[in-house]
Amino acid sequence: MSHPLFSLAGKVAMVSGAASGMGRQMSLGFAEAGADVMLLDINVAGAEKTASEIKALGRRAIAVNCNVSDIAQIRKTFELLDREFGRIDVLGNVAGEGKVGAPEDMPVEVVQEVFQNLVFGRFAMCQEAGRRMLKQGKGSIINFGSIGGWNSLGRGHMPYGMSMAAVIHMTKELSTQWAARGVRVNCILPAQVMNAGLAARIESTPEVLNTFIGGIPMHRLGQPEEIKGPAIFLASDASSFVTGMALPMDGGNLAMNAGGTYPGSPRVSG
Ligand SMILES: NC(=O)c1ccc[n+]([C@@H]2O[C@H](COP(=O)([O-])OP(=O)(O)OC[C@H]3O[C@@H](n4cnc5c(N)ncnc54)[C@H](O)[C@@H]3O)[C@@H](O)[C@H]2O)c1
Repeated sequence: MSHPLFSLAGKVAMVSGAASGMGRQMSLGFAEAGADVMLLDINVAGAEKTASEIKALGRRAIAVNCNVSDIAQIRKTFELLDREFGRIDVLGNVAGEGKVGAPEDMPVEVVQEVFQNLVFGRFAMCQEAGRRMLKQGKGSIINFGSIGGWNSLGRGHMPYGMSMAAVIHMTKELSTQWAARGVRVNCILPAQVMNAGLAARIESTPEVLNTFIGGIPMHRLGQPEEIKGPAIFLASDASSFVTGMALPMDGGNLAMNAGGTYPGSPRVSG
């Protein structure tokens, strides 16, 4: 039996990117901990599949077609939440992607597009959820950043890194300004966690795997289901005095100096 502090029974959660990867696993984890979940994604069939798995657990789940780059769609989705659930206790701001290219060649419009998706979309989600949580006097927001928003990934991900850095700072601003009114805001910084895009990249360029693993002291990639523990911790009263935190979920990546080695390190052969 799990500790009652981790229970989400009677809570309503909203998760973006709920059709696959960490958004899907976070949604399933919240439902397993007792929450009803509203599932946002542009892949509606995928979100419906997550919803049917949640319903099989005896929880309520609604899949919604919502592009988090589109502020009008976000506002409409929250109006639907008001009608269907009448409250929000937990927000998982997961969906989003970057664009790759050399900084000297990248059109500014592409950088703006990534900011629209990762920064303004996440902010609009936080604002809509925050307004409702402030009225309730309680709520927990979990933003997805990345290790790439903390240090440079150094391989053409500049707009992604800039955006994720903004997400980390947005988390600090919101947590500071809402803490005394009962709303906690934290963010999670994953290192490389297996998803369909990463699997395809490793398939086409196998050396990518060793490059990534070379930066991860645990000597492996993350698996999407490993989000469940940190997400349930941050969503629940188990983290009642935790706000404004950037939690690495990275197998030790951010703790290690770029030149760091140790016995058994993937960077040390023989
Ligand atoms: N996987 C990693 O290695 C990693 C590392 C650091 C950060 N992240 C971040 O974590 C988040 C989830 O990553 P993942 O690996 O679980 O991804 P994933 O590709 O497995 O799933 C992403 C989901 O988001 C949906 N989505 C994409 N754009 C959307 C949009 N505009 N509106 C609504 N839904 C949209 C997709 O349809 C998909 O279901 C992303 O923000 C990603 O940048 C991932």
